[in-house]
Amino acid sequence: MAEDALRMIAESPKIDPPAAYTERSYVRSMAEYEVLYRRSIEQPEVFWSQVADELLWQSRGDTVISGSLPEFQFFPGSYINVCENCVDRFALNPATRNKVALFFEGEDGTRRTVTYLQLYDEVRRCANALSALGLKAGDVVCVYMQNLIETYVVLLACLRLGIVYNTVFAGFSAEALRERIVSSGAKAVVCANGSLRRGRVLRLKETVDDALTGVDRVEHVVVFRRLPDLETPMTPGRDHDYDTLLSAASTDCPPARLEANAPGLLIFTSGTTGKPKGIVHAGGGFLLGTYAYTKYQLDLRPEDVYWNTADIGWLTAHIFVLVGGLACGVTTVLYEGALDWPQPGRLYEVIQRYRVNKLFSAPTAYRMMLKHGEEVARRYDLSTLELLVSVGEPFNPEAWHWVRRVVGGGVAVINNTWGQTETGGTPLASLPGAVSMKPGSCGVPFFGHELDIVDRDGQPVPPGTPGYLVIRKPFPSLARDVYGDRQRYLQSYFSQIPGVYFTGDSAVRDEDGHFWVLGRVDDVINVSGHRISTMEMESSLIRHPAVVEAAVVGQSDEVRGQVPVAFVTLEKGYAPDDALVEALKQQVVHDIGSFARPARIYFVEAMPKTRSGKIIRRMLREILQTGEVRGDITGLEDWEIVERLVSELRDAAPGSG
Ligand code: PRX
Repeated sequence: MAEDALRMIAESPKIDPPAAYTERSYVRSMAEYEVLYRRSIEQPEVFWSQVADELLWQSRGDTVISGSLPEFQFFPGSYINVCENCVDRFALNPATRNKVALFFEGEDGTRRTVTYLQLYDEVRRCANALSALGLKAGDVVCVYMQNLIETYVVLLACLRLGIVYNTVFAGFSAEALRERIVSSGAKAVVCANGSLRRGRVLRLKETVDDALTGVDRVEHVVVFRRLPDLETPMTPGRDHDYDTLLSAASTDCPPARLEANAPGLLIFTSGTTGKPKGIVHAGGGFLLGTYAYTKYQLDLRPEDVYWNTADIGWLTAHIFVLVGGLACGVTTVLYEGALDWPQPGRLYEVIQRYRVNKLFSAPTAYRMMLKHGEEVARRYDLSTLELLVSVGEPFNPEAWHWVRRVVGGGVAVINNTWGQTETGGTPLASLPGAVSMKPGSCGVPFFGHELDIVDRDGQPVPPGTPGYLVIRKPFPSLARDVYGDRQRYLQSYFSQIPGVYFTGDSAVRDEDGHFWVLGRVDDVINVSGHRISTMEMESSLIRHPAVVEAAVVGQSDEVRGQVPVAFVTLEKGYAPDDALVEALKQQVVHDIGSFARPARIYFVEAMPKTRSGKIIRRMLREILQTGEVRGDITGLEDWEIVERLVSELRDAAPGSG
């Protein structure tokens, strides 16, 4: 794996951005980037102050950065409201008030357009409606909605009041939702009654009802009727209709005064244990960071029509649209549903309709385009596209070249960025007008971010040598805590290698200073850009009475990047038949959500283990990938188990999962 990657890096072409693009870029050459980067590292206070100058502060003190990792703050004692920066600044300016903020397109073809002024009124009404329910700064509200204008309104209203929102991806099951509601101590839930996905109706309100069974703390559920004809059970006293609440609310609602380091938002993500972590971001820090990433890595300009396909359930949408995008005053497209539904060219149709010039998506979506073929893309006018951005998983060169040639007309700039829920942005990316493209690379460190690649002892490794990706200095959008568990925050990110933030990824730097992220070094897998803990899946499988032991590993997949594959040993008396395979898959869907459904389940007699009894998942991965075990076998307790596994897998019918 590492050898293949190193070969890819060595053979990578270097492609310069076209002059027409560079001319309109914020940073126009590698030399300029290098000067600015060096300055931003030597004097991070100066760099972040300049970024801060472009935002609207309620009051701003002199201190820019205090403390160091992991106890740090940006602009301590300064006050700033995220919503005011994302909405009011443009709604109150006569030059931009009637500018389109959001073009909404539903999967069923519903279309709506909202200007900054309209957004301003809606957000203030919504904030007053939430206040009328007794919700206030510091309370947690869980938001379980797909991409809708109302979702943006609710989240911005929370930011306006200082309510800490916790978005949960609307593909999570009732069990997973319950866990996230309970662990975050949410007082209220806001949901849509349903969402559309590949023509199917997902009954979100019913999922919320299931999730809330036995949960007393939640006092209010606000329901937006996305599908007016969908029968929606309402519990009197607890449940409220969104439209009714808003129609009674006034628009008079000044932004709350909020300290820049106060918690702004919360989002759960998978870690290496079975329990998801509630990642806490500071409101002001998140705004400062995401504004800078979005402006420079997307070269955002007022005239752009920008579409980021991410679902609001993932932090990418908050970084690059909700906060970063709106803080740049941009016009964005908001799309609900599957990108290739009801026909494979749906994504292209949307690009063509709105004349999108900057598209942000994930490798899995780009590979989906490739799978549908060139002929589909050729039916549309994609000539407006000048920048294609990606995040979330490795962007394989084959898809990269295809996308640039077919979707980008051979001229669009591709910017593959690297980031994490924890980093609240993308510390690695290209500055698209300045840095030459290398297919598969994640570009260079962003201003004010000091990244390094080190060995186990924290010593830097030379270019060309894989190691652990770490970040040496604080930056504004770095997570500030794991909700309710400071110890887990310190343990997960700051304990392996002292003094630095540990990303959990391995990476290589090449001779030109480009970073190439190779993948996770822990038990987290990446399925279509969804981050899933294999431990979480294993705990789910073991809950089924037939299962004695389970091990889940990621297997490479052409479109989804990786798919989860489970190895299971059974309790005596259970037959490894199709019904059981389905039941186990259902167990995972029930506990986590359908996106985590195992692609295959292998029933095995025994697992390869260390002498201390730990399952060696690395061997399972190797057997899956190559059909044999060639890596280090010292520490293995019983070689026969491996031989048996290899032959069992060879004989397993393809339908065994
Ligand atoms: O392993 C890295 C992978 O995705 C992980 C972060 O996942 P998540 O928190 O869901 O990301 C949210 C994005 C804001 C990372 O630890 N990853 C992300 N980008 C890339 C990547 N792997 C390779 N190349 C990338 N460009």
